[in-house]
Amino acid sequence: MPVLPKELFKKCYGRYAIAAVNVFTMEQVHGLFHAGETANAPFLVQITPAARDYAHSIMLEAMVHAASKIYPKAVYAVHLDHGNEEHAKDAITSGGYQSIMIDASHEAFEDNVKITKRIVERAHEHEIFVEAELGVLSGVEDDLSIDEKHAKYTNPSEVERFVQLTKCDSLAVAVGTSHGAYKFSGVQGIQFDILEEIQRRLPEFPIVLHGGSAVNEEEVQRINRAGGQLLKNATGVPPQEIARAIKYGVCKINIATDTRLLWTRVHREFFRDHTPLFDPVIPGKEYIRAYSDFMVQKFELFGATNKA
Ligand code: G3H
Ligand code: 13P
Ligand code: NA
Ligand code: ZN
Repeated sequence: MPVLPKELFKKCYGRYAIAAVNVFTMEQVHGLFHAGETANAPFLVQITPAARDYAHSIMLEAMVHAASKIYPKAVYAVHLDHGNEEHAKDAITSGGYQSIMIDASHEAFEDNVKITKRIVERAHEHEIFVEAELGVLSGVEDDLSIDEKHAKYTNPSEVERFVQLTKCDSLAVAVGTSHGAYKFSGVQGIQFDILEEIQRRLPEFPIVLHGGSAVNEEEVQRINRAGGQLLKNATGVPPQEIARAIKYGVCKINIATDTRLLWTRVHREFFRDHTPLFDPVIPGKEYIRAYSDFMVQKFELFGATNKA
């Protein structure tokens, strides 16, 4: 059953987080909805522009619609991830989304405000929830100076003004994570001092963490043992940092990379161990099962089990 993100975030603030998972394929939609029902956990189904490009936006919306019939107890909302103005407008009129992200974080502050505000006005007419982003989410290299590092992170002194001006419903922040399998080039992880300051300035306001994958070491090793060549320094967000971030108001944690690693591990091992086979159905079933098991664990880590 689709629900409003506002309700989900009101309930979880400071206590647990909602997993927001990017789906690209039928197997992933099955795995996610199956896990949501199994764990009795609410979740966000995220659709990126790349996914809409790959599977077609109509196909993705239809798959989610079908999944809600196959898994009637699943409690979820559909979210556009990293939309530009055009994607956001399209998602608003399609009727298939309860929530959208307008990502103008690469623009200067005033332009980010302008673009975000335009989308918020339009989305709110349709009661659609809007996530915006302030700060540049990218890997911060070790050899940058402190000033250079802070130029990339979200500046806490800007967050109140940004939210007041745009009237966005949640805020994605850059506090040290980045997308992909190589999040941290050194030892630094989430910058909790920045996160704490953001929470102090935006009490009770839902904060979104992009780049939330754990990049499990064992998975990376299994991929490499089955012929992959992922780099040694693949690192993600450790479980204890997730738990801490939730206390600071992180309500939504985005996951894509972990499910890609899982896909790669399942299929590499499958075809290594079953060299005569050439049928997508058999490894596909294995991936759905592994995906569901993986998400059940993720819901547990985020504290969302039995919160649907
Ligand atoms: O559109 C961007 C995707 O959400 C990024 O996901 O960092 O796991 O590739 P990724
Ligand atoms: P990961 O790369 O950590 O999975 O992050 C995904 C994300 O933020 C999608 O918006
Ligand atoms: Na998003
Ligand atoms: Zn993201």
